[in-house]
Amino acid sequence: MNSTPSYKKFESFSYKSLADLKQKIKELRLEIPISLKTEILKQNVKIKERTIPNRLSIQPMEGFDSNLDGSPGKLTFRRYKRYAKGGAGLIWFEATAISQNCRSNPHQLILSEKTTNKFKELVSFVRAISNNSLKELGFKKKCLLILQLNHSGRYCRREGKKYPIRAFHNSDLDETIGVSKKDGIVISDEELENLEEIWVNKAILAKEIGFDGVDIKSSHGYLISELLSSRARNNSKYGGKSLENRACFLLNIVKKLMKELKNDSYFFITTRMSVYDGIPFPNGFGVKSKESEVFPASIDLTEPIELIKRLHDNGIRLINISAGNPHYKPQITRPHDTPVKGGTLPNEHPLYGVNRILNLASKIKSQIPKDMIVIGSGFSYLRQFAGHVAAGLVQQQKVDICGFGRMAFANPDFPKQIFQDGIIDKNKTCITCSQCSQFMKLGLNTGCSIRDPQYQKKL
Ligand SMILES: Cc1cc2nc3c(=O)[nH]c(=O)nc-3n(C[C@H](O)[C@H](O)[C@H](O)COP(=O)(O)O)c2cc1C
Repeated sequence: MNSTPSYKKFESFSYKSLADLKQKIKELRLEIPISLKTEILKQNVKIKERTIPNRLSIQPMEGFDSNLDGSPGKLTFRRYKRYAKGGAGLIWFEATAISQNCRSNPHQLILSEKTTNKFKELVSFVRAISNNSLKELGFKKKCLLILQLNHSGRYCRREGKKYPIRAFHNSDLDETIGVSKKDGIVISDEELENLEEIWVNKAILAKEIGFDGVDIKSSHGYLISELLSSRARNNSKYGGKSLENRACFLLNIVKKLMKELKNDSYFFITTRMSVYDGIPFPNGFGVKSKESEVFPASIDLTEPIELIKRLHDNGIRLINISAGNPHYKPQITRPHDTPVKGGTLPNEHPLYGVNRILNLASKIKSQIPKDMIVIGSGFSYLRQFAGHVAAGLVQQQKVDICGFGRMAFANPDFPKQIFQDGIIDKNKTCITCSQCSQFMKLGLNTGCSIRDPQYQKKL
């Protein structure tokens, strides 16, 4: 008799109808709600003095198509034009480096004095197009644009080579990207102090450029995300046993920014956070402390919830919940049917992965103050039915806004399709083939090689 529980068995997407999907959800005993009332996604959301016109967001997706100086390039404009036409109420711009030295790719965007004008051009271009499409769809409010600011941390590259800038040593993570302890550095407290200032200045620049908010990125194993779990960082005010220390880099930036911006209720300071990274204790965040050998580790949201409450105390009212470190266990961040080349199929059902990431957002939402707006992630696996799950989650108040990543590459008109037809076009959806991630891994422009002619080259 085979005793492997069914949620551990990998199975690719084969659901022809919502009924098929519902049946599988029931069989696997998952908590993925489904609603046919997708019009709920047309409701607006108020945050402080602003209103987001609807419940759909484009998640940040690195395109690696900047000019060499880090300014938005031709393909960057093309991608954001496609998003803007789609009708999402919130466009979360991709991981943008706070300086040249913390880029993960020579074509990653950089926010700097040099790139300011091109960013301004991009922001007004996107606003004009999105205002128009939102109006056509019947929305009265305008789209909000948020810029994600990042330091790539252990995924930095310099002069074409991997140059990990770590919060602490972790040989397992070194191995996943083929570097050794000798490569790169562990960042010093002095450098982190300097970075706090740079981050604050870049966030202010983002406001001057015309963004509606700035995301101090704390997800996916990049610098801040890694600091949150840096128990192994010894003799440092930014690491060690206490969450106070591990979170102080993020909190310092937030506090300084709030002060500089005088708690401006029209501009949002936010963060995209991996509230659970799946890395076993003591090197993981949001994981149980008793199980050092379990892969991926079990979830314990005590620290993430405490941190989000602290962010709320400091005036933050919008949080984008993600999970995982995609360089380590990609299925936690983005459940998929096909891994990147050389990757292995996860030994879990992809719907179980969808359930985990959606549930993380709803568990967090249920335990933090009600006026913190929560964005959930991990919808693209659900293909044409993603809008129905989004509607189910919003209806049950499990998340406030539903953010789509890979779907936006494949089918940037997905919001329009949900609003007008009640369902995403099944012939245009993301098929979670991981080719966009493969492009990323190879350092190429990222996009959808299945649905977008611009990227249809075989890998
Ligand atoms: C090619 C690629 C680039 C990504 N770039 C970013 C990024 O810049 N910032 C970020 O927070 N997440 C990034 N992500 C993660 C996505 O925003 C999203 O969380 C993930 O794909 C899961 O959502 P989905 O199921 O809707 O795709 C990226 C994912 C992919 C595949």
